[in-house]
Amino acid sequence: MEQLVYLDHAATSWPKPPEVTAAMIDAMQHSGANAGRGNHALAIGTGRVMVRARGQLAELFCASNPQDIAFTHNTTMGLNMAIRGTLQAGDHVISTMTEHNSVRRPLEYLRQSIGIDIDYLQVDSQGQLNLQQLKKSFKPNTKMVICNHSSNLLGSILPIGEIGDIVKSQGAVFLVDAAQSAGSLDIDVGKMNIDLLAFPGHKGLLGPQGTGGIYISPALDLEPLMLGGTGSQSENSAQPAVRPDRYEAGTQNAVGIAGLLAGVRKIKSLGLSTIHEQEWQLTQKLMEGLSGIPGMRILGPDIGAPRSGIVSFIIEGQDSADIAYRLDRDYNIAVRAGMHCTPLAHQAADTLKSGAVRASVGPSTTNEEITKMLDAMVELYGRTRSR
Ligand code: ALA
Repeated sequence: MEQLVYLDHAATSWPKPPEVTAAMIDAMQHSGANAGRGNHALAIGTGRVMVRARGQLAELFCASNPQDIAFTHNTTMGLNMAIRGTLQAGDHVISTMTEHNSVRRPLEYLRQSIGIDIDYLQVDSQGQLNLQQLKKSFKPNTKMVICNHSSNLLGSILPIGEIGDIVKSQGAVFLVDAAQSAGSLDIDVGKMNIDLLAFPGHKGLLGPQGTGGIYISPALDLEPLMLGGTGSQSENSAQPAVRPDRYEAGTQNAVGIAGLLAGVRKIKSLGLSTIHEQEWQLTQKLMEGLSGIPGMRILGPDIGAPRSGIVSFIIEGQDSADIAYRLDRDYNIAVRAGMHCTPLAHQAADTLKSGAVRASVGPSTTNEEITKMLDAMVELYGRTRSR
């Protein structure tokens, strides 16, 4: 059997660095108590790991106070907290056609249940928004603007800083979904006027599944989604106002957070710009090679343009699930195929019926792995011209 070529980093990064596994084993063995729920040494040790992780995340996203970062189980949870904790009946929201279902479903739920008004802004073939259209879309009742930093289907990168300026000038709340950018693209919540940032721990930050977080601007009093025990102000029947307790009801995934801390440290030691540059080079090589295959259509930004580590494509006359199946079965290459939980992006890319194959790279992806993927694709689907 060929050695596994893992090109599904947009779903979750793999393999995790050995430091992440080691940190989790260490947490299980030496600091496995419940942080904030006891004054014994083991509980204090767990709390210390969480404080360190919060501090590292705050630094990564340029948040001045680590207490403004709350841990979540994934990006979806952070997005739900942000959306459902902010919007009320009668509010208007501006979002985009490239959003994941983790934004669209909570929004549509609120549209049905309490009555909110939503505009999903169109994107062009490169996955880009028209910022003039964004400016024109504000209404007196626009409460929030929500967009991803990078589309999980197209790999396009939105100009978050410019969008943040526009949102700020209109006095709305800016929520960014960093599912595909945290750990590879610079994010500065202050400079980019980001009020709410939902991010995964298990993708670009190299932590385990079941980890993630949300940055909540100190200027916002976000309604908590979950209420319950925090280990603080136990005599009080109301959820404490103090952060991060307000947003972290119940026992936290301390072992996962220990792994996340090791992942963030790894990212920082590699350097975000190095990671992004390496991923970009790999996507360019992949796109160059794929473009020689008959009937190939690569979605999103053109060769040479900015993109995250995602390359999605379709081949005319070929079923996307079948392409992924053959890559897996015959070459031990893991890609994702079909619908990618983002139906409006598929609609924008005209792949609603066909779905798409998505190959996505991470910090551990090598040139040789991309060569193997291209060789497999040429063997399966031929080549119209040399690359
Ligand atoms: N949202 C993740 C993806 O796009 C799981 O694959």
